Amino acid sequence: MPGDQETIEIDEFVADPRPFRALYEHWERHQWSPFEIDFSVDADSFAALDRTTRMALVWVFAHRFHAEFNVAVLLAPFLLAAPDYDVQLLLATPVADEHRHIESVLRVYAEVFGVEGGIEEVKRLADAQLDPVAASLYEALDGVVRELEQSRDEDTFLRAVVAYHLLAEGSIGRANQTFVASRFDRVGSFPGLREAQRLAVRDEVRHIGIGVSYARRRLARDGQPVRALIRELVDGFHALGQNLLANTSPELASDFVEAYGAEPATLWAEVRRQLQLRLRSLGLTGTG
Ligand SMILES: [Fe+2]
Ligand SMILES: [Fe+2]
Repeated sequence: MPGDQETIEIDEFVADPRPFRALYEHWERHQWSPFEIDFSVDADSFAALDRTTRMALVWVFAHRFHAEFNVAVLLAPFLLAAPDYDVQLLLATPVADEHRHIESVLRVYAEVFGVEGGIEEVKRLADAQLDPVAASLYEALDGVVRELEQSRDEDTFLRAVVAYHLLAEGSIGRANQTFVASRFDRVGSFPGLREAQRLAVRDEVRHIGIGVSYARRRLARDGQPVRALIRELVDGFHALGQNLLANTSPELASDFVEAYGAEPATLWAEVRRQLQLRLRSLGLTGTG
């Protein structure tokens, strides 16, 4: 199965003799600011689009806003349940990253889409565009991660890592990023959006590396029960995805085509391909 540049980078972290240290040092070396990105060309390009294309691009960013906002909020339970200092230190870094990503999306709304009113107004607009597929996926992620509020044992922690870092960020997030990157170029000149995306993806590669490194550590230590736990979550995710795909309305399907340039089945196939790449980095062959 062909990987991509991001998969190569994830595997480099994982192959490091001290992956947790390598991930933290990468974070220290790769700080950036959403305030330094110039969106002026993007604003002109956006204004020149027809209404349908504008709405599709705004929907892509509604997805982005919900993704960044939800994963930012869901890091708190992880921090409280971190099994040791190395993991705690690593988990402190995406807390800053994900809030920076929210700020980056808010700048796009303000400077490219012309939305005033800050996060309240952006959240109101994004919530109004929330579709049933995204809502179901967030509900599922929320359910697994919030188990940490009841029990902070290492298996509950691992389940949360698999759902958050490998399925949400590692599979859905990576698939979304591959479609969005080619979308900007198709509709116009968006150098600011591309740059903001490049920087966020660089962070996401590191976040996925955190999840893969932690899961590999558990696999090395505990073997078969950990393999079974991962398999169970992966099977559940496949069932959820197939079910959502089977129940996507024709209207929603055409919205996906307009926004991402692909049918839901093609998007889901890329999610599954990304998941296989993550499982390969874990040293596991996937299911289904
Ligand atoms: Fe993010
Ligand atoms: Fe992330």
